[in-house]
Amino acid sequence: MHRTSINEALNAEAPRDSITLMGWVRTRRDAKGFSFLELNDGSCLANIQVIVDEGVADAATLKMLNTGSAVKVQGMLVESPGKGQKWEVKAKAISVFGDADPESFPLQKKRHSDEFLRTIAHLRPRTNKFGALFRIRSEAAFAVHDYFRRNGYFYVQTPIITGADCEGAGEMFRVTTLDPSTGKPAAENPFEGDFFGRGAHLTVSGQLSAEVFACSLGKVYTFGPTFRAENSNTPRHAAEFWMIEPEVAFADLGDNMDLAEDFLKSLIDHVRTHCAADLDLFAKFVDKDLAASLDNIMAKPFVRLPHGESIQILKKSGKQFDFPVQDGMDLQTEHERYLTEEHFKRPVIVYDYPKEIKAFYMRLNDDGKTVAAMDVLLPRVGEIIGGSQREERLDVLERRIGELGLDMSCYWWYLELRKFGSVPHAGFGMGFERFLMMVTGVTNIRDVIPFPRTPKHLEF
Ligand code: 4AD
Ligand code: MG
Repeated sequence: MHRTSINEALNAEAPRDSITLMGWVRTRRDAKGFSFLELNDGSCLANIQVIVDEGVADAATLKMLNTGSAVKVQGMLVESPGKGQKWEVKAKAISVFGDADPESFPLQKKRHSDEFLRTIAHLRPRTNKFGALFRIRSEAAFAVHDYFRRNGYFYVQTPIITGADCEGAGEMFRVTTLDPSTGKPAAENPFEGDFFGRGAHLTVSGQLSAEVFACSLGKVYTFGPTFRAENSNTPRHAAEFWMIEPEVAFADLGDNMDLAEDFLKSLIDHVRTHCAADLDLFAKFVDKDLAASLDNIMAKPFVRLPHGESIQILKKSGKQFDFPVQDGMDLQTEHERYLTEEHFKRPVIVYDYPKEIKAFYMRLNDDGKTVAAMDVLLPRVGEIIGGSQREERLDVLERRIGELGLDMSCYWWYLELRKFGSVPHAGFGMGFERFLMMVTGVTNIRDVIPFPRTPKHLEF
């Protein structure tokens, strides 16, 4: 089915005598002797205007040319007399693939709330906003691969089903084998062993597997879906989200911070360059301060602040926080917001966290109290990146696993990386959806992922 995309048509150099477009009708206006169609095919934000003279379409076809119907238009690409658009199409023939009943098709020409559109996730990419969002998402994913490829990293696919708990936080979904004849869990006790007799769950992070490959290929990254069984009905958490995790051998926490900042800024730059028209929609209709807030991220080096100092700043702020500030505590959203939005007014990398509030694999600092962890915090978005230098000393790591009461036998292979040619190494994870929220100004994670997985959203 040969066709020209609307994006290509709108960027044509010269008129064309013959062009075939296929897409969905956004609107139809009837005038005396002809009709105007606004046609969109998803290739870009803009619609192309199609002029259908009387007689081009028979009465039955014309009746079906309603908002939402899918059509094929053959005609001429001609200069548009109207302003705003250089080209329009004068139809010579038009046919309908599938019509859309105006009584029941939900995307009629009015603004719909994000909440409503979530209930029709199968249709929402046909709106301007979500079309733009998912084109940006696609381009940003490409930018991730492009960044690492340009910088000499290898892309590693890490497993989704795993027996290892990376974060040790217990927020995992179990994998269950069903008996095909009964549809019930095959194991006697599904909580003990249900992956062919062993316990398995969906990965919360590809990090531990990525470490294997950093300690062999040097510089690697993963980019895939991760799963967290946190029943948190917040606008920033999803049960299934995509994470980008670089892991680098012969690197320390300082290198990790440099990488995180450079990566984030490169990604913003790429999206601004390659998705200008789509981003503009968000700057106009979603977040009037979007350009300024992205400029602010790009403008200066990020603040680098030891966790202990962040606590001092919060204590001195004189603010009444809902969650009172205490030494050694984990930062809550309100604290992150104060640091990034009020105190520094720009991105902050908090590092050297108390070991008690961080995962077992983070490298113990010389003070014996803190670990070489870092979180990148952004104004309005909060935590976008979490990472650390990894504990490369076998004895220290074994002690930590013991202290935390984790099952040592699960980590035998991870420990062997420290037994055989151990190297200092570091890495981080960036939530892809958090990035998209930041770059578009969208405030709910459910609106930046094609099919959100949250306690309320499972169909589609
Ligand atoms: O801070 P987290 O839990 O770090 C890790 O998983 C490390 N193993 C990463 C690493 O060092 N390789 O998660 C990393 C990032 C967070 O900063 C956040 O952006 C995102 O993943 N994230 C979520 N995004 C959406 N929904 C959730 N439930 C998320 N949990 C974490
Ligand atoms: Mg974190």
